[in-house]
Amino acid sequence: MQDVKTALAVRAYAVQDRLDALLPSLSAPEGEVIEAMRYSALGGGKRLRPFLVMETAALFEVAENNALEVAAALEMVHCYSLVHDDLPAMDDSDLRRGRLTVHKKWDDATAILAGDGLLTEAFAVLADSKAHPEADVRLKLISGLAAASGAAGMVGGQMIDLSPNRTNLDLDGITRLQALKTGALIRYACQAGAILGKAGSEEYQALSLYAEDIGLAFQIVDDLLDHEATPEETGKPTGVDSDAGKATFVGQLGLNTAREKAEELVQSAKSRLDIFAGKAQLLRDTATFVLERRS
Ligand code: IPE
Ligand code: IPE
Ligand code: MG
Ligand code: MG
Ligand code: MG
Repeated sequence: MQDVKTALAVRAYAVQDRLDALLPSLSAPEGEVIEAMRYSALGGGKRLRPFLVMETAALFEVAENNALEVAAALEMVHCYSLVHDDLPAMDDSDLRRGRLTVHKKWDDATAILAGDGLLTEAFAVLADSKAHPEADVRLKLISGLAAASGAAGMVGGQMIDLSPNRTNLDLDGITRLQALKTGALIRYACQAGAILGKAGSEEYQALSLYAEDIGLAFQIVDDLLDHEATPEETGKPTGVDSDAGKATFVGQLGLNTAREKAEELVQSAKSRLDIFAGKAQLLRDTATFVLERRS
């Protein structure tokens, strides 16, 4: 576990640096939106998705500067999703990563535009040859991120999460909701490493299945932490999901069974990595981190 935390911190530092360089301040009237984008993107966070990009890419000995670019692009999309998720029209949250949310620090319009700006910039980063020298690799990265982020992925999941019909969802329906809203970007993180590394189909599939398992476990733990952790630990309000009528594993199964489900998923995730043998130990430990994290 300590190794994962150290490795996460090292990668997070590199991602922070790269995001800082990719989002330069601008002294013009529209510079305000860039300040809000920077506030969101440079404001901490675990940087789990970038970490997964970099560690899966490392399995294939991908050049680190390429993986870092893709990692930064994905983190931009993740940060955009958080800025919009916190808006009054969505989860109406005042606190994110231990600080005021973007719409509280600025206003709703700035938060909407900052999210839009981060989403758009992510694709510019992937289109640049710094992400990968070969255009066909960049195209795969771009179409993969579009699919994971849009209505067939994160946006679709957010729609279900907010729909009045969510109260009718059974466990399969909730599983699908979580796979879209949270799973899709986590799966993309691992697939991006495989795309950069020109993985064979067996390796690509193994990483996809690993990511699906940890993605679902990750959201179950997020929902558990809403019940079990404090805002000091998570950096965001806690105890809010059930009042908001969210459809979660915790709500459906109770705390203990939901935790058991997350534990099973993490065991399953680890077994998906057998074909990588010892090379994937850090990714196995990352699955444990997903389960044991308190933030
Ligand atoms: C929060 O994601 C949103 C979910 C998908 C549950 P993280 O828990 O990865 O948030 P940060 O990036 O560490 O702040
Ligand atoms: C958000 O899920 C998933 C996103 C796509 C941002 P949550 O609404 O549970 O995430 P938190 O708890 O606000 O971080
Ligand atoms: Mg939400
Ligand atoms: Mg939320
Ligand atoms: Mg949550």
